[in-house]
Amino acid sequence: MPDMLVRLYTLPPLEAEIEAMRAAGIDIRRALPPEKHVVTAWVREHFSAGWASETDVAMSHHPVSCFLATENGKLLGFACYDATVKDFFGPTGVDEAARGRGIGKVLLLACLHDMRAQGYGYAIIGAAGPTEFYKKAVGAMEIEESWPGVYRGLLGMGG
Ligand SMILES: CC(C)(COP(=O)(O)OP(=O)(O)OC[C@H]1O[C@@H](n2cnc3c(N)ncnc32)[C@H](O)[C@@H]1OP(=O)(O)O)[C@@H](O)C(=O)NCCC(=O)NCCS
Repeated sequence: MPDMLVRLYTLPPLEAEIEAMRAAGIDIRRALPPEKHVVTAWVREHFSAGWASETDVAMSHHPVSCFLATENGKLLGFACYDATVKDFFGPTGVDEAARGRGIGKVLLLACLHDMRAQGYGYAIIGAAGPTEFYKKAVGAMEIEESWPGVYRGLLGMGG
């Protein structure tokens, strides 16, 4: 699972994607601090305790560095940045039943545009699982010899 590099100065536009999601009944927005317990419990249930811990950190920033996808008041997906280390995107995930509708890509773009607005020039996708998804969505490039990288020695990972 390599890290990947993304140019933030040539990102695809975000607004039209958010509008298209809204037209389809899906709201893509920054998470709010009172939602922290709901979001972290959802991430733990659907993904892992480690990702829930990272999401907890992102939910504790001002502004919150976590974006959500919701439909009819139901959480469908999340994406974070600046969680384990600064300038890293992730974790992110979409409910299995809601995958393939473009939600993961818009959540990714929402975070990356926010990172650009926060002053970053490049973003790192931390420990990218689906590398093809990131290449296709934002032209991300694999960083050689980046695994386990900043995650070396992580408890419960054996690295
Ligand atoms: C990766 C993930 C967030 C993608 O979410 P999604 O909502 O299903 O993705 P989208 O519908 O926005 O896909 C956007 C494009 O990427 C493609 N894509 C999605 N997942 C892909 C994958 N795993 N590999 C290659 N391409 C993928 C889609 O086909 C789509 O292509 P298109 O624009 O030509 O239609 C989701 O599959 C997921 O939650 N995976 C499990 C958790 C995970 O691996 N998170 C990433 C950790 S780094």
